[in-house]
Amino acid sequence: MLEHDVIIVGGGLAGCRAAVEIARKDPRLNVAVVAKTHPIRSHSVAAQGGMAASLKNVDTEDSWEAHAFDTVKGSDYLADQDAVEILTREAPQVVIDLEHMGVLFSRLEDGRIAQRAFGGHSHNRTCYAADKTGHAILHELVNNLRRNGVKIYQEWYVMRLILEEGQAKGVVMFRIEDGRIEVVRAKAVMFATGGYGRVYNTTSNDYASSGDGLAMTALAGLPLEDMEFVQFHPTGLYPVGVLISEAVRGEGAYLINSEGERFMERYAPSRMELAPRDITSRAIAYEIRAGRGIHPDGSAGGPYVYLDLRHMGKEKIMSRVPFCWEEAHRLVGVDAVTQPMPVRPTIHYCMGGIPVNTNCQVRSSASSVVEGFFSAGETSCVSVHGANRLGSNSLLECVVYGRRSGASIAQYVQNRKLPSIDEQHYINEAKKQIQALLDQPGKYRINQVRQAFQDCMTEYCGVFRTAELMEQGLEKLQEFQAKYSQIYLDDKGSDWNTELVEALELRSLMVVGQIIMNSAYRRQESRGAHFREDFPQRDDSKFLQHTFAYYSPAGIDIQYCPVNISMFQPQERKY
Ligand code: FUM
Repeated sequence: MLEHDVIIVGGGLAGCRAAVEIARKDPRLNVAVVAKTHPIRSHSVAAQGGMAASLKNVDTEDSWEAHAFDTVKGSDYLADQDAVEILTREAPQVVIDLEHMGVLFSRLEDGRIAQRAFGGHSHNRTCYAADKTGHAILHELVNNLRRNGVKIYQEWYVMRLILEEGQAKGVVMFRIEDGRIEVVRAKAVMFATGGYGRVYNTTSNDYASSGDGLAMTALAGLPLEDMEFVQFHPTGLYPVGVLISEAVRGEGAYLINSEGERFMERYAPSRMELAPRDITSRAIAYEIRAGRGIHPDGSAGGPYVYLDLRHMGKEKIMSRVPFCWEEAHRLVGVDAVTQPMPVRPTIHYCMGGIPVNTNCQVRSSASSVVEGFFSAGETSCVSVHGANRLGSNSLLECVVYGRRSGASIAQYVQNRKLPSIDEQHYINEAKKQIQALLDQPGKYRINQVRQAFQDCMTEYCGVFRTAELMEQGLEKLQEFQAKYSQIYLDDKGSDWNTELVEALELRSLMVVGQIIMNSAYRRQESRGAHFREDFPQRDDSKFLQHTFAYYSPAGIDIQYCPVNISMFQPQERKY
């Protein structure tokens, strides 16, 4: 059996930042990071626009309080305000710390870190490295892992969280290269496995964003929080869905419909293209519904709108958002210096996740935590984003709460013993699960079931939701569950069996999809990214609460928990 003081699942920003913090706090600790890709291929690397912090380099009127207010308002008042206070107070410090680690942020003329405008933020506070900010930060953090002697298991797939008597004791994983199964026991387990964009059919997320950590947590009997809040990023490049950063609008680009109008005037006149994402995405969807979208031949009534950068000029485009220019050029043949880009909303981020307190300990209910289990980053829900995240608060959350989880874990493991685990039992279970998948005489290819499932989530639980739609969707999800036991795998081998990985990922996607749709069905109001056409108003009297969803194969049990409101009373949200 493999043994570590701490095992961190996930090699993205939150996991790496936690590992660095543990090594800083107590270099004697034996820390490992396990990831199903190489850590620098984690999805954090694709983050583009930046990381918010009230450094005041550009806007001297900014403050952590203003950042906190924008975040809470952006969240449609569902964010836990104690967690937001920590996020926004610690933001300037974590940016400076990253800079000291070697992260190359873009600069002002006088050498200070540059800061740009972003949606829903009242001041220019987003620090960035052109439009490759995640790349700049993640590479430096991974260098720091190596420098600090953190063991990296790359291209290992974690199949199961070992949770016994309310304590996380380790994980079961297999090496994708040769199928070797290992049990790892540890004094503390951390999940930082990112999001689940692949639950939907069009997403800015990479193929690895299959919600594995969320599903393993749910399958262990623990709750997931606020899973109905799924973020659509307004500007996915049509038709591929990859991200065209909000930085492009932060630097001045316009959204235009088929009539040549800057239609955001109708939806958020004071913020225009820099309204929060829920409002901007719905605005685009309304324009398309109303027949003011655009077709590839330029005529009206089509499936996208334009993102127009032309007035920004070549020099600004190439220096501030070169990667977005390149994406459009390479993927759809659009030169954004002379042509508008075709865009429409794309799934981008999950506001919900594994519930944690502000020390990143996983919660098993409103009032209890799981021993030895921690989480941070997109996969967790400390609820700094509530019902809608502001752009550039996600990298920030990964770093602030990655660091905090590292500090909590370093303290938690002091003077603890490694737990005892029946290794053979878990190995046998894992072998059985894999063998059953390899042996099952199914009739569906994985891709067929996955595609139909993703289409179902998109159609029945997308931007606009109703009870009627979701009732149909929930029935279909039951059918897909049945089909899962009828998938077949061509590859029966153990070496680089990526088909097996896809089968396990599909199980994760389906568990997460069930929880999203059930949570959305039960929330009979509209708040942030969750828009119910049959309940179009926010209803604080019934739903100013967090959803805790408990999965079981028999169904999903939904409970509600209070929101922390320590600074700002809920108000009507206008922009
Ligand atoms: O648009 C973007 O660059 C995305 C940023 C974010 O999701 O925080």
